[in-house]
Amino acid sequence: MSVSITDDIRYVGVNDHILDLFEGQYIVPNGMAYNSYVILDEKIAVMDSVDAKFGEEWMEKLADALEGRTPDYLVVQHMEPDHSANIGRFTEAYPEATVVASAKAFDMMGQFYGSTYEGRKIVIKERSTLELGTHTLTFLAAPMVHWPEVMMTYDDASKTFFTADAFGKFGALDVEEDWACEARRYYFGIVGKYGKQVQALLKKAAKLDIARICPLHGPILDENLGYYLDLYNTWSSYGVESEGICIAYTSVYGHTKEAVEELAAKLEAAGCPKVAVNDLARDDMAEALEDAFRYGTLVLASTTYNMGVFPFMSDFIERLVDHGYTNRKVAIIENGTWAPTAARVMRAKLEAAKGLTFCENGVTIMSALNDDSRAQIDALVEELMA
Ligand code: FEO
Repeated sequence: MSVSITDDIRYVGVNDHILDLFEGQYIVPNGMAYNSYVILDEKIAVMDSVDAKFGEEWMEKLADALEGRTPDYLVVQHMEPDHSANIGRFTEAYPEATVVASAKAFDMMGQFYGSTYEGRKIVIKERSTLELGTHTLTFLAAPMVHWPEVMMTYDDASKTFFTADAFGKFGALDVEEDWACEARRYYFGIVGKYGKQVQALLKKAAKLDIARICPLHGPILDENLGYYLDLYNTWSSYGVESEGICIAYTSVYGHTKEAVEELAAKLEAAGCPKVAVNDLARDDMAEALEDAFRYGTLVLASTTYNMGVFPFMSDFIERLVDHGYTNRKVAIIENGTWAPTAARVMRAKLEAAKGLTFCENGVTIMSALNDDSRAQIDALVEELMA
């Protein structure tokens, strides 16, 4: 049922293995966790609820953690429905409990659920505190990490930092998997656009004495916290995390794919430590996005299509720009049978991204690879490995 984190903090979150797409778009092969916590003190605070589908399971775990006591507060850090869907169920079951949230969060409660909890609410803002007894909760505003209403919570007694979506990942907690891979895909897909706001959060976190991070998704982090904080610093400052090159391509009859494979083999032969190749029509687009942000160099390769680029490439570039893609080197490969336009169109679409450096060498394939386009690939390899 509920799981002890410390003597008086319990985990009452749930694992979702039913979900097909998180936020209606992200595949979650290992499911998803919606975390919720209970702090048991003279007063009892419950930290967030869970997704709508798991209301009953959550309430059972909550009852188990409470051992017959009644909660005093429901702290709503984030209003996205994967965490807020059971506020109504909670407030009905515990009519004496007070809802604690930012003013914006209460506005959203009205919009989503038709109640702003007049007469039973506490509105919190930056550095508001809530005394529970031994534990004092201090609230820290973290707008746009990942919505504007977000408040994070620091508990000084246990040195626990409740971080809402930050430091979360895809994947249920009953599946063992590497943290960074699914945390990176989650970060760049969901929070990636808001690097500046994450940097502001990290500045606040630097002033706290943190023993554990309790996010709303993914595992509780209580060891080697510097590793996670450093990765968040790299990601949110749009820094290069790993040495290597990301290639993202689309191919209709396989000729562009052949060029990409040749380029990847030549880069590896020239000593490139990692070439991450993504077929945008078949591979997970969120994984491709994650790779584009992870490495310092991106090669885009696309067929010309309707005097533009293949639709998956168009979608990918839009996602890059929307997520704040910046400070990277970019090379372009195009293919066309009678009037190749893909390179010009891709470059024009990327104009909206700031801080990109374009390689001098590009590759134009006329239908299929030949000596001329192979020589262009060689020149590009030389430039990329210089
Ligand atoms: Fe996990 Fe932004 O909700």
